[in-house]
Parts: sequence; structure tokens; C-alpha cells
Amino acid sequence: MTCNIVETPTQLKMDEMALWLREMYLSQQDEESWVIIVASDIAMNMAALKNFTSGIVFGDDWHFLGSSALNDAPFPVIHQFEFKGDLTMRVGAFAYEFQHADGSPFEVIVTSAYYSDEQWTLTLAALPREHLATWGAFCEMCYKLSSPEERVTIVGGRQTDFVPSIQWDDIILPDEIKSDLFQDVQSFFQRGVGIYNRLQLNPFRKILLAGPPGTGKTMLCNSLALWAIEQGYRAIYVSGADQYGAEFYKVHQALYLAQMSDTPTLIIVEELDAFLEEREGKQKALVLNVLDGVEALKNEHGTLLIATTNYPEAIDVRVLKRPGRLDRIYMIPEIKDRRIAEAMLRKYLGDEWRNEHAAIASEMVDYPGAFIREVVVYALTQMVTNDETEVTLAQLRNSLDKLKTQIDERDQYIGFRVNGKVAEMN
Ligand SMILES: Nc1ncnc2c1ncn2[C@@H]1O[C@H](COP(=O)(O)OP(=O)(O)O)[C@@H](O)[C@H]1O
Ligand SMILES: [Mg+2]
Repeated sequence: MTCNIVETPTQLKMDEMALWLREMYLSQQDEESWVIIVASDIAMNMAALKNFTSGIVFGDDWHFLGSSALNDAPFPVIHQFEFKGDLTMRVGAFAYEFQHADGSPFEVIVTSAYYSDEQWTLTLAALPREHLATWGAFCEMCYKLSSPEERVTIVGGRQTDFVPSIQWDDIILPDEIKSDLFQDVQSFFQRGVGIYNRLQLNPFRKILLAGPPGTGKTMLCNSLALWAIEQGYRAIYVSGADQYGAEFYKVHQALYLAQMSDTPTLIIVEELDAFLEEREGKQKALVLNVLDGVEALKNEHGTLLIATTNYPEAIDVRVLKRPGRLDRIYMIPEIKDRRIAEAMLRKYLGDEWRNEHAAIASEMVDYPGAFIREVVVYALTQMVTNDETEVTLAQLRNSLDKLKTQIDERDQYIGFRVNGKVAEMN
């Protein structure tokens, strides 16, 4: 029996795949005992398949023996190849073989195809109706095997994952900001999720860290991801670093992963303003619906989205101000007082810290942490270059003055450019 596949690569592949699956099975079995389902893409995840040895038991004492490509299928096998040299996903048609501890086997035919230029895939599976639950348990296990738990999954980046490494104590900010933020995150997962569920609301919380560049927002995200992983939660980082840039569909994809997750999930979206840029019409509606939780895919264990921005003013007021879209905004400030500046100096000078350095702390107020780090790095470089054994207060001051001048010059230049452009537009 043959089946003609219409060549419409940008249209939904669902019907084509379903037709093919039906023909495969109708020729072998009676229709009643089989079912075709929309399946999770996780079954096509190469890391999961690589880690899924036949020794792993899942469901009610089942084992996965392996999968093989069905080469006569009209869905070609395509592997997605990542930067690091890993195969990450595949599409195509495959037979998955399972065996129970008592020796009885069953087979699932899985097809997957791209349906958009953004590499979204659709996966269908045809399987014996009586083994639906076993297939579900298989997918759940694939999910666990797909990403070792100590790593943050990256959506839309050049890498697939990373290991967070910032300790909470490494971040120097006013205590109340740090503890407010941490309490918020912790109490959402530990108590909030239960409350949302009881009220039959989607347990989806969104917070924004806003503040000037270099104040520690990325550090906070990294450290909260580390904490989440230590709790056994899943952490996902939405990146704009691949060729598709900061596209909102990536946020949607992260929410989809959160929904698939059987644990609480933390999603990090840095530079949220870029993901929201110039979205009109339907796109805009999607963004707003996702943030409202209407379009949000639901993870009953709770999803916390932490976004950051250097430019809160670039975020649409419909997102920023409307209650429920962003639940809370934390302002992450530049160095507010002498005490914080001194703590930052001590941290970055390390063994080179001398009590006399404290005298310069008050001149570092109103600059971001990244600036102080630069001042210290410059002073330390000078020390090494000049073959000296310690950083004097004068050297630190010299380094500070130099960097301040650079910043002033840069600000003047940029201010000039921006004004020039504004003048032009007017
Ligand atoms: N609050 C802070 N405490 C300690 N170091 C900081 C702090 N803020 C900035 N830094 C230093 O500056 C670098 C850049 O900070 P980052 O977290 O990327 O800033 P942001 O994301 O707010 O632009 C950090 O890697 C760190 O070395
Ligand atoms: Mg940042």
C-alpha cells in the first residue's frame, strides 16, 4: 500500500504523518487496538536516547531495547548538530522496541518532522492502546535522562546547557534586596504553588530585576539557578544568542519544557526588553497572553520566570504596569553607600586589601559593581606590570580617575550620538 505525501514543508505535518502511520498499522493490525497520539519531542532527544540503556527500568517493569530508523518512510532522518559536536535532536520515522521483564515485547512507531523555519518539530506516535501509560513513563524517563540535573538547560542559545557557579554570598547588594528576592523565590515554590493550585490558578509567577548594566542582575539569576538545581528543580535559561536572536517563541518553548517537567521550574529570561521589541498584532497578543498565563502552558509544580532588563522604560506599559503580567519588580541599584562600596572593594582586592583602601570607598558610590571590579582589575594589572608587591591607595585612586574619565568621555560621545539622532528624527 502506498501513501502520497503532499510536499508542503511549511504546513502542519500532522495529517501527513498520521496518514502514513495509519497505513503502516492498518496493514498489520486491527484498528481498534492501535492509537495515534501527538507525542512529546523528548522521544527524539539524542541525549536521552544515548543515556537510555536497556538496564533502565520504567513504568511497570519495562525496558527500552533501542530504536531503529525506518528508511522507507517518507520522513527523512535529520539530526540537529550542536556547537559542541553533540547531536541534540532528530526527526524522521523510527521503530522503538520495548520489552517487559516477563519477556513480552511491543513496538511504537514514532515520526517527527519540522513544521516551521524556527525548527519547531511535531512528533506523532502509533502504539498499542494498552501501552499508552508505558509510553508516558518512557517519555518521562527520557525527560529525566535528557539533561543531567546539575545543569541549566539553554533554550535558543549556541550551547545546550551550562553549570551555574555564583554563590549567593558573592553578590554584594543591600541585604534587604537580596533577602526579599530570595524569600520571594523560595516561598513561591514552597508555599505559593500549593495556594495557586488550591485556587485553581496556574502556578506561574513572573518577576523582573531592573537596573543599570553591571549591577549584578546576571549574577542573581545565575545564583538562583544554582539554588534551584540544588533543590532538585529544573532551571531553564532563555537565550538570544543563536541566529534567531531574542524571539519570543523561545520563551514559549521554555514554558513548554516547564510544562513537561515533573518538578518545579525556574525560567530565566535576560534582557526581557529585547524579547518584547517591536511585536505587533498577533505577535503582541501572544506575548501578552503568555504573560497573563492564558497561553502559558501549565506546570502544576510551579513555574517561576525571572526576567532582567537594563531598560525597563523600553518595556511596553501593557506588560510593565498591568497587574498580573509581571507580579513583582525588583530594582537592582548601583552602589548606594560607602559600606557596600567597601565590601565590593574587599571582595575584588582579596588578599591585596589594606585598611587604607577604605578611604576611597565613598568615591565609588553611584557606580555599578562591575565598575568597581574594573577599577580593581586595572590597579592589580598595574601592580603586576610595575613589579610591585602591593596596591597603594594612590594607585587605586589613579585607576578610579582613569576609568571615570573614560566613562565620562564615552557618555559624552554616546549622548552626542543619541541627541544627533533625535534631532535628525525631529
Ligand atoms: N552586586 C554585585 N556584587 C558583586 N559583583 C558584582 C555586582 N554587580 C556587578 N558585579 C561584577 O560585575 C560583573 C557584571 O555583573 P552582571 O551581574 O553581569 O551585571 P548585570 O547583569 O546587572 O548587567 C559581575 O560578573 C561581577 O564581577
Ligand atoms: Mg546581565
